[in-house]
Amino acid sequence: MASNGSSVGSRLQDKVAIVTGAAGGIGRAIAIRYASEGAYVVCGDLRPEAGLKPQDHDGRPTHEVINDLYPAAAGPKSSNRAVFVKVDVTVSAEVENIVQEAVREFGRLDIMVNNAGIAFNGLHPPGMRTHQIPESAFDKIIAVNLKGVWLGCKYATAQMLEQEPHPSGDRGWIINTASIIGMVGQATAGEYSASKGGVVNLTRTVALEYAADRIHVNALAPGFTDSSMIDWITNPQSERAAQVHQNLIASHPFGPRLGTPDDIAGGAVFLASPDASWVTGHVLAVDGGYLAR
Ligand SMILES: NC(=O)c1ccc[n+]([C@@H]2O[C@H](COP(=O)([O-])OP(=O)(O)OC[C@H]3O[C@@H](n4cnc5c(N)ncnc54)[C@H](O)[C@@H]3O)[C@@H](O)[C@H]2O)c1
Repeated sequence: MASNGSSVGSRLQDKVAIVTGAAGGIGRAIAIRYASEGAYVVCGDLRPEAGLKPQDHDGRPTHEVINDLYPAAAGPKSSNRAVFVKVDVTVSAEVENIVQEAVREFGRLDIMVNNAGIAFNGLHPPGMRTHQIPESAFDKIIAVNLKGVWLGCKYATAQMLEQEPHPSGDRGWIINTASIIGMVGQATAGEYSASKGGVVNLTRTVALEYAADRIHVNALAPGFTDSSMIDWITNPQSERAAQVHQNLIASHPFGPRLGTPDDIAGGAVFLASPDASWVTGHVLAVDGGYLAR
């Protein structure tokens, strides 16, 4: 039990994880679940409070929530269970730095969750088709969602190859957040679907490259999930957005709701756990059945 009474599992006992995009939504849920399973967590994001919804743990940064809920036992490692490290995943030196910070703080890197991502929000209005989308929006989304994941794979694999394998014999676990929209098309999401389709096939390729080294490389494909990213849908300010919300709920057979960040975090725990010992190059849909049609 943690000092506050929260129960702590042990499926990721003493593994060291980086989660990018950990300040809000899915990344925050993954970071907290990883800590609850015994992992040490480096929470990477642009800012500690980026992407937070007001109802999320009183708006407190993820690493603070983790350190309160799951304090680290005194030992040779850091006295923290979690730290925040600023990272812009589009900047090579910053991605390299967060890997180095994980090693400095906790001694090694076992799990890399390349989760940071953006949609069209702030780049152009919803509902645009390809001929209407500004080129700059395409470049930005590809830079964060695809190049950011590639940089995460690049620096994580380099570190995992350099260090002693985990006692299980595995050298590491990489989990890339793709999307159902990387598996099937979605009208008016061209640049996003291109980026996530890229993540899917990058994942398979990196899995093949490092299989002999026992680095697991898998992807998550969340369905539509209630986070800041789709706040314009879940808190609709127009009839059109309200209609989109209803249509999306109807598209997820499990309904009648969208996914929650915690739904997705369960998949992320599995892919980093001993239960995934024979799993690599896989894209795990966590989507309430969206892709089953
Ligand atoms: N919410 C959904 O419906 C949904 C569905 C499928 C996949 N996804 C994917 O899940 C991942 C997490 O999204 P979310 O729904 O939690 O959204 P979110 O907006 O709540 O969280 C995304 C986080 O990424 C961070 N981020 C953005 N740009 C960054 C950068 N350049 N460097 C570092 N961090 C950056 C943000 O600050 C934010 O904290 C994304 O890759 C997203 O594409 C989301």
